[in-house]
Amino acid sequence: KYLLELGVTEECKKLILSLPIEKGWVANHLHQYQGFWHTTRQLQAVLACRRHFQAEDSDILLVTTPKSGTTWLKAIVFALMNRDQYPNNNDLHPLLSENPHVLVPFIELGLYIDGQVGDFTTFTSPRLFGTHLPFVSLPDSVKNSPCKLVYLCRNPKDTFVSLWHFTNKLRTNGIGMGTNSLEASFDKFTRGVSLYGPFWDHVLGYWKESLENPDRVLFLKYEDMKEQPKVQVLKLAKFLERPFLLEEETNGVLDGILKLCSFENLSNLEVNKTGKLASGENYKTFFRRGEVGDAKNHLTPQMIAKLDRITQEKLHGYGLKF
Ligand code: A3P
Repeated sequence: KYLLELGVTEECKKLILSLPIEKGWVANHLHQYQGFWHTTRQLQAVLACRRHFQAEDSDILLVTTPKSGTTWLKAIVFALMNRDQYPNNNDLHPLLSENPHVLVPFIELGLYIDGQVGDFTTFTSPRLFGTHLPFVSLPDSVKNSPCKLVYLCRNPKDTFVSLWHFTNKLRTNGIGMGTNSLEASFDKFTRGVSLYGPFWDHVLGYWKESLENPDRVLFLKYEDMKEQPKVQVLKLAKFLERPFLLEEETNGVLDGILKLCSFENLSNLEVNKTGKLASGENYKTFFRRGEVGDAKNHLTPQMIAKLDRITQEKLHGYGLKF
């Protein structure tokens, strides 16, 4: 019955009946497809995007798990790729009047949601897209093209806490549901049952790819971006073949981008305080604290130890530490 209500296609319905299912964080259900958990709407979008999305060689895909700093990465890459057209001191800079998720839409959540066929007519080259898709589920056209992927990850403790806050805001603000307890959400997250989770498998897919194809996949960490923003953005610009000229570094272009995209600046813009996405999420839910280490204000020492243990088991062997 709920599949009918969501207008799910026959193909998706058949698939769903064969997939493992769990209760969702906000939506009623999560389905495990190719090893990763998706809501019903998302799954339909993933299938549509896998079938129809045609990558172009010059495309840039910004990839994250939810709550790893997607909004920040989208803003930075948009600003750096468009810095000639929109210098930082320009009052008409699109980032001042539009949310980064509108300027850099998600392929599966923006362009193919509800099985729509994406409208790409307004994009200019190089096209910038966001996605939360795990590596295994990327459309073949992306896997087979030389387009560039930037992966931003964040330590699992802060990611989990951010996700817990975010999903509870969606539940209480938008649809009048009660909140999920920290403990129940933690149990789900550690079992891998989270949006586009398991978190660790998502990270590992792109980490391995970045080691094998460093020209194609750049792997960044939220914590490094906070600690050394200039170093990381210089690296990013070089990877995207738009390196900063020395004069841009000295005459404040790089600093200007960092300031424009800072948590303080973006979260205080009128558009981000009052606007919302077509899918209903208020822009302000994408801005909370924007800090490293907030997890320790929420998680018990046991919870922290458990997340650290899983991270060690799953990632340390591959040389990835947080
Ligand atoms: P917190 O909940 O820890 O504050 P995403 O953009 O992937 O949805 O991630 C949201 C997280 O990134 C939130 O983390 C949010 O506050 C933080 N964030 C949003 N904009 C940011 C920015 N410009 N700089 C740093 N962090 C930012």
